[in-house]
Amino acid sequence: MIYSRIVGTGSYLPEKVLTNFDLEKLMDTSDSWIRERTGIERRHIAADGETTVDLAEHAARRALDAAGLRPEDVDFIAFGTTTPDLVFPNCGVILQSRLGCRGGPAFSVETACSGFMYALSIADKYIRCGEAKRALVIGSETLSRITDWSDRSTAILFADGAGAVVLTPSEQAGILSTHLHADGQYKDMLYCGSGVSKGFGPEYKLAISMVGSEVFKSAVTLLGRAVDETLAANGLDRSAIDWLVPHQANLRIIQAIAKKLSLPMERVILTVKDHGNTSAASVPLALDQAVRDGRIKRGDRLLLEAFGGGFTWGSALIRY
Ligand code: ACO
Repeated sequence: MIYSRIVGTGSYLPEKVLTNFDLEKLMDTSDSWIRERTGIERRHIAADGETTVDLAEHAARRALDAAGLRPEDVDFIAFGTTTPDLVFPNCGVILQSRLGCRGGPAFSVETACSGFMYALSIADKYIRCGEAKRALVIGSETLSRITDWSDRSTAILFADGAGAVVLTPSEQAGILSTHLHADGQYKDMLYCGSGVSKGFGPEYKLAISMVGSEVFKSAVTLLGRAVDETLAANGLDRSAIDWLVPHQANLRIIQAIAKKLSLPMERVILTVKDHGNTSAASVPLALDQAVRDGRIKRGDRLLLEAFGGGFTWGSALIRY
């Protein structure tokens, strides 16, 4: 049996830092309100002209270095993003040209915050069926470009960053399972209200709109179900998880999922404090940080999960 295995991770955060105290000067909010409701203390914002693919390239090169592979070795790119550089070509193709790897498939997946989980699931299947050998899976975002800085209920949450993993085939497990879901009946709970086909006029706001309390409740319920589904599909109980690597949206959502799993917070990778909600980038960012600081070790069992606009959500169980 062939599995896909993560052989390298990388991440990148833009240089500019915006703290809660900086936000206090821009809007009617406070550091204590933001920390208590979300767990976020600071976030990173892309410089003028710095794009989603710029961030992704840093993360990708770091992941390839960690894997001991050359950029030109990559034969498959799956790129999760909600904030692409251009309408087309897609971010995967732009990244491919930067890395100098040619000919393999390269595409973007637009499923909001679960973009990385969708990209990972697709890449896993291509590796396992033998059609890809060295896959780069990316989550990268410049959400600051679609943030309404006059809306304190969303501006405090979202930010910029990128994460990447490299997958290769292995007889050793590996990604054990992935589960993806979507439910379009919730499309009005979290969305960006403009687009190429709809239009960009004043009636179509190029900014994130969110019904925060509904998103919160649905995220906890649907992710809880996804966790149970993943464990059942693998015949495991909750004690089998060494590390939960959750979507870094909000500390309180993460705590609620950990509680459902009966997992102590010491076994949850938490990075939201330092970079806010980076959407598709958040899971690979957290994963990379925990791999590099030595918490996640080879052989550990990881549960990755993410939830985003749509709603879309997904999970992956991994023997690291
Ligand atoms: N600073 C100070 N006060 C604020 C702020 C702010 N930034 N934002 C809202 N408030 C006020 C409100 O106006 C309200 O005041 P009122 O009682 O006088 O009307 C009060 O705080 C409470 O507002 P709520 O919206 O009820 O606050 P809540 O406890 O629900 O927290 C939050 C809001 C943090 C957005 C919460 O709903 C949440 O975390 N939702 C999930 C959001 C999320 O994580 N989304 C992304 C997940 S999916 C993805 O990643 C795409």
